[in-house]
Formats: sequence, C-alpha cells, structure tokens
Amino acid sequence: MDKGLSGLNLIRQGKVRELYDFDDKILLVTSDRISAFDVIMPDLIEGKGKVLTQISLFWFKQLESIVRNHIVTANVDEFPEECKPHRDYLEGRSMFVTKTEPLPIECVVRGFITGSGWKSYQNDGTVCGIKLPEGLKESEQLAEPLFTPSTKAEVGEHDENISFEEAVKLIGEEKANKVKEISIEIYKKGVEIADKLGIIIADTKFEFGILDDEIILIDEVLTPDSSRFWPKATYKPGGSQKSFDKQFLRDYLKTLDWDKQAPGPNLPNDIIAKTSEKYNEAMELFLGS
Ligand SMILES: Nc1ncnc2c1ncn2[C@@H]1O[C@H](COP(=O)(O)OP(=O)(O)O)[C@@H](O)[C@H]1O
Ligand SMILES: [Mg+2]
Repeated sequence: MDKGLSGLNLIRQGKVRELYDFDDKILLVTSDRISAFDVIMPDLIEGKGKVLTQISLFWFKQLESIVRNHIVTANVDEFPEECKPHRDYLEGRSMFVTKTEPLPIECVVRGFITGSGWKSYQNDGTVCGIKLPEGLKESEQLAEPLFTPSTKAEVGEHDENISFEEAVKLIGEEKANKVKEISIEIYKKGVEIADKLGIIIADTKFEFGILDDEIILIDEVLTPDSSRFWPKATYKPGGSQKSFDKQFLRDYLKTLDWDKQAPGPNLPNDIIAKTSEKYNEAMELFLGS
C-alpha cells in the first residue's frame, strides 16, 4: 500500500477507493482503478473515478427521503484545508463523508436472475438459500426483488453469498431486517427512476454503516461497479445481456487463459478505451450530457 496523498492520513486502500482520516469524517477518494473477479487490473480507466462519484451523488440525492446517507459535501471548496494542495486530483472524484462503522455484509438486491445468482440457481434451484420457481431463464425478471446478502471480503479475497440467517448471525436480527427492508425499498426506487431512462437495474449492492445506532447508506450507490445495468431496448431473457457495466471487461477476461488470481493481465488499448466509453455512457444516461 502506498502512502497516498501527501499531508493526508491514509486509513484504508480498497480495490478502488482510498480513505483518509478526518476524526469523525472521512475523505473518500475514488481512483481510476478497475477490478474484475475481485482482482485489480494493472491499467487505469481514465475518468472512471469521476464517473462513479458523480453517479453515486446523483443517487444519494434521489434516495435521501428513504435513508440517510454519509455525504457531508462533494464540493472541494468545502473540504478541510489539508486537501487544498490536491484540489485538481480530488475535484469530481471525492466526497467528504461521515465516518461510520461499516456493517460486515454487502446488501445485494436482485430483480433479475444473472451472474452468481444464475450460477447458484442452475446448480440447485436456489439463491442464497431462497428457493426459486423452476424453469427460469437466464436474465429473467424475478416475481419480486430478492435480498441476497454476501460477506465483505478483505482485499484479495472473494465475497461469498450467504443466507439471510447467516446475515442475522453477523449483524443481528434487528439490523438484518432493517437493511433488508431499506435495500429493497431503495432498489425499487432506483428501478422506477432508471426505467424512465430506459435502463434495467438487474441487480445491485448497497453498503450500510452504523453511527449512533442509526443505519446510514455509505460507499457508492447504483454505479456501474456496484450494479448490472441493461438497456431496456435490447433486453431479451434467455442469455446474457448487453450492459453498461464492467461485464464488457469480464467477457474479455474470460477469453484469456488467466486464472483470475492477482496480478491481473495488462489490458489492450481498445479494451481500455471501450471500457472507459461504457462508463461515460452510463454517466450520460443518468446525468444527461
Ligand atoms: N462512510 C463510510 N464510513 C466508513 N467506511 C466507509 C464509508 N464509506 C465507504 N466506506 C468503506 O470504504 C471502502 C471503499 O473502498 P473500496 O475500494 O470500494 O473497497 P473494496 O475493495 O472493499 O470494495 C469500503 O470498505 C467501504 O466499506
Ligand atoms: Mg467497493
């Protein structure tokens, strides 16, 4: 782990973000790094950090009537003095947020059956212990969105799907019920907004933190890194879908003879350019250009 930005106190470097300590606040900086299959790729996707930050800010605002979020300000002018020397880098890609105690689970909501959910369903007809009707096709819409939590793996490890009962063991029944309820509600609200923009949110992942017993929506929200976005216009169940997320990169990586262990392979320029284009496309869809 490098030391991060000079004069600031780096407390954590995740796959994509750096966290700097400001007592009861955190400066959350989104880099241009991209990860796939939980491995960080050696190449940067220029502009990606800004895209993720701007999309998250859009959603935090849209969802604030349902759940409190961690944003204090995303305006660099309002950041603490120590951040000023890094203004140019921070602008657009960073948020000054409330420090919380992150819950040790990822709150996944699935409205459609795809990815690891599809794999699990093919295997034994269930997702995270939830029995699903027979005969579902790949990418088919589920009757109701499902809350399918996973563990939060350390860097280098993989998140694992868990049952609701296992989530209860990790965070207690009251919090588990509460985050399940909030997750489904914000997913539904997201779906309603995305639908008008011609986008399907097939599935997504939320993170919550605790501050003085209150549940707060943290990290990133409904971004192409945390969600599968499909264009409505070309949606057709029965196979994989065209998407605005990093499925494009995943599909490329699957063509390689790479064991999905770090280090990740260098990416060809056209794959980098195309990936960057996908992220920008997603931003334009939500924020308008
Ligand atoms: N408001 C917050 N309070 C505490 N931790 C936070 C907050 N917002 C985000 N985080 C944490 O910051 C990290 C974000 O870095 P990221 O690169 O996304 O990590 P990861 O590799 O775990 O996905 C996550 O571990 C997330 O839980
Ligand atoms: Mg993350």
